[in-house]
Amino acid sequence: MKVIHLSVECFPVAKVGGLADVLGALPKYQRKLGVDASVVMPWYNRKFTQENKFDHIAYGAFYQGSELLHYEILKEANDLLGFPLYLIRIPGKLDREEVYCYPDESEQWLSFQHAFLHWLKADGIQPDLINCHDHHVGLVPFLLKYSYEFQQFSHVKTLFTVHNGQYQGWMNWSKGILLPSFDSWQWGLLDWDGVINPMAAAVKCCDAFSTVSEGYLKELFIEANGLQSLFSSESQKGYGIVNGIDTDYWNPQLDTLIDSNYNLNTVEKGKSQNKKSLCEQYKLDPSLPLMSFIGRFAIEKGADLLAEIIDQLLGNIKSKMSIFILGSGDQDIQDALQQILEKYPKQLAVYFGYNESLAHQVYAATDLLLMPSRVEPCGLNQLYALQYGTIPVVRGIGGLKDTVIDVQETGGYGIVFPEAHVEDAVQGVIRTLEIVNQVDLLSEIRQREMHLDFSWNKSAQKYLDLYTKLLK
Ligand code: GLC
Repeated sequence: MKVIHLSVECFPVAKVGGLADVLGALPKYQRKLGVDASVVMPWYNRKFTQENKFDHIAYGAFYQGSELLHYEILKEANDLLGFPLYLIRIPGKLDREEVYCYPDESEQWLSFQHAFLHWLKADGIQPDLINCHDHHVGLVPFLLKYSYEFQQFSHVKTLFTVHNGQYQGWMNWSKGILLPSFDSWQWGLLDWDGVINPMAAAVKCCDAFSTVSEGYLKELFIEANGLQSLFSSESQKGYGIVNGIDTDYWNPQLDTLIDSNYNLNTVEKGKSQNKKSLCEQYKLDPSLPLMSFIGRFAIEKGADLLAEIIDQLLGNIKSKMSIFILGSGDQDIQDALQQILEKYPKQLAVYFGYNESLAHQVYAATDLLLMPSRVEPCGLNQLYALQYGTIPVVRGIGGLKDTVIDVQETGGYGIVFPEAHVEDAVQGVIRTLEIVNQVDLLSEIRQREMHLDFSWNKSAQKYLDLYTKLLK
């Protein structure tokens, strides 16, 4: 079975969020199951593309509106990721340093999708199924069916995976002329509320769609940034498959990015050594419980609540603890954290930016990880935390609710709080500190966590089952 994953992020080539982690791991696990899985993504001017070797395997050109675009297909030469990786480079469109936030984002992703299809046709590539990830590639299911140029692919099955329904890729209808020419009677399939909505078009035209947890699928029927009625009416072709993690890479025993490696038997010692070195470096007291937050500073992630949560914990309640924040994003959130950092310099450390290896060290070093998300389609950080014997303190939503069982339930191993509110999060942290301060209970919970298996094995099989069903 030949499956192409289409995405604009893939770890380690280009990562902004969890989307990249999924793309960097799922195809590898699928190949173990005998699926001929590969990834096609845009070329970025980044470390990975500069430092590695690529074969130039195809060239072509097409018109985007009145602009002639030349593309080039590069294949990573040494199988570094464990699956074939293809990059599409288009001078002026797909040759940039960052993934997002360019003013011509629509043109960028349109050119990616068009070049991809153009290449398939020119080289006679016949996938059985194309797995499109998020709105950036949401027009592909429509184009396969209704563009004149790519008619020959109308039978190719498509699975559209929703990693985040909040972003939908909206574009004004004036951009319609930039698409490869299509059967204009079908324009309604592209439209939602008077604009072209690639996420909506994908849900309407795909053979099936999946979400990255079962809980999130149900939530999309109720709230999906305007698309809830669409998700509901298409629910018969919706599936929830929870993400896994790459346990080759996220593994405290083998992790080369942490100071001291450890396993189930050495977790107490290992974590305390990692904590010691992180605390020394950031001038925190290693004898106190250490909490962390890792991620994008976005409202969706509840990062706007952090400053007040910290103020309550360290100021009002005077909790004996330290806090480590690693992330970047919204400037207001960053400013609020900077202010709170000045107020509690001894108990708080903040690293502003993206730092993959520091993230590993933080999972290994901290006792608890806070995720006060408002929306969380799956969430991977809680899974990394569990893998490293760190207690996840999460708001019970989406994938967080599906993957974390509260300690109050039998066999529970985390803390789940009801709402993305400061008070609820603070209560959740206080409950966790009670565990962290009882040595025996803490090590019992750590054992439970590290016995869990959140690797991709199970979920990769679920994707395969779904592909098989679609290809019948
Ligand atoms: C998005 C979601 C996150 C999910 C990830 C990978 O980043 O916000 O919850 O884990 O995609 O699917």
